[in-house]
Amino acid sequence: MDENAKTFRWGIIGCGLIAPRLAKAVEESGEGRVVSAASKSMRRARRFQRETGVERVHGSYEEMLEREALDAVYVATTHNFHAENARLCLERGIPVLVEKPFTQNARQAEAVIALARDRRLFCMEAMWTRFNPASRRLCAMLADGVIGEIRLVQGDFRVRMHPLSPKMMPWNRMYSPRLAGGALLDLGIYPVAFLHMLMGRPPETVEGSATMTWTGVDKSSEYRFGYPGGARAELSTSFVSPDERDMVITGTRGSIVVPHFYRADRFILRRNGEPEQTIECGEPSFVHQVREVHRCLREGLGESPLMRLDETLANMRTLDALRTHWGMRYPGE
Ligand SMILES: NC(=O)c1ccc[n+]([C@@H]2O[C@H](COP(=O)([O-])OP(=O)(O)OC[C@H]3O[C@@H](n4cnc5c(N)ncnc54)[C@H](OP(=O)(O)O)[C@@H]3O)[C@@H](O)[C@H]2O)c1
Repeated sequence: MDENAKTFRWGIIGCGLIAPRLAKAVEESGEGRVVSAASKSMRRARRFQRETGVERVHGSYEEMLEREALDAVYVATTHNFHAENARLCLERGIPVLVEKPFTQNARQAEAVIALARDRRLFCMEAMWTRFNPASRRLCAMLADGVIGEIRLVQGDFRVRMHPLSPKMMPWNRMYSPRLAGGALLDLGIYPVAFLHMLMGRPPETVEGSATMTWTGVDKSSEYRFGYPGGARAELSTSFVSPDERDMVITGTRGSIVVPHFYRADRFILRRNGEPEQTIECGEPSFVHQVREVHRCLREGLGESPLMRLDETLANMRTLDALRTHWGMRYPGE
């Protein structure tokens, strides 16, 4: 931290598509700055520097971690590298914010979490949705029993990517088994994590099926979860079918529709016998997540109470269970 201004000094690992968004949010938070970024490719690092104005870039992650004094590192590589990159930081005593999904599988997640706890270092999955005003308001209203007991949640996260998009190339992270590709880990983690937030626990039963790409990763899937007492969830994820991104929560006294649940700015409340009500919330943004990291660092917390590590681990176990259902393993698993 800078001594006078209490400015958090961030580093970034991986200079791909998402990294500039976090850099912008750190700037917008008014509480920190990205002082450095590292990429395996110096060319990518320099492009990132031109785009964001970050002070220094490095062509190696280790070099950045050794030369810079950092308060936190954002891990923004493809899923398969998250565990390895998070470990690199934690072993050097640096707190981490790790992009979603936290790791490729639960085994990796367990190891990273154990290391963070052992070293008493802050560690969090960058589940940015969790910190948006709409999510906070929704949780508060559900806790107040606004729709009674939740009985059914139906949600989709389906995005039709253009067949000629670079994302659809076999070497891209979405398509490549080597990079832990597939729709479930990239998109499915959102409904799985959102559902955990709503239900306050992981599902008791998990079943699902998927259709695969020719490269051997899931392109579309449907899955069903069961909870004690008979509550259910029906979810789907795809990167090839028409866009659907809403969540419908049905309770014993009404229902809530959350349009674009993963980046919602409002939701619609329908209570039995009452007129429909739209609840407007603040803008979704990475800034909320960044401020939560700063708060936790300031207060010396090892994890955020809003996105706990046990929850992250449970969600990784749910993704593992689904992949087991449709018989999909990544290389080395
Ligand atoms: N929170 C969100 O809204 C959001 C949105 C999009 C993505 N994400 C998450 O952020 C992470 C990165 O996504 P992205 O879209 O930024 O990915 P990306 O641009 O495809 O790649 C990010 C970085 O991963 C490394 N990488 C990519 N392809 C590689 C390959 N073939 N071999 C070796 N390394 C490779 C590179 O790191 P170097 O620069 O070090 O070489 C690259 O800069 C993913 O885990 C994704 O789930 C989150």
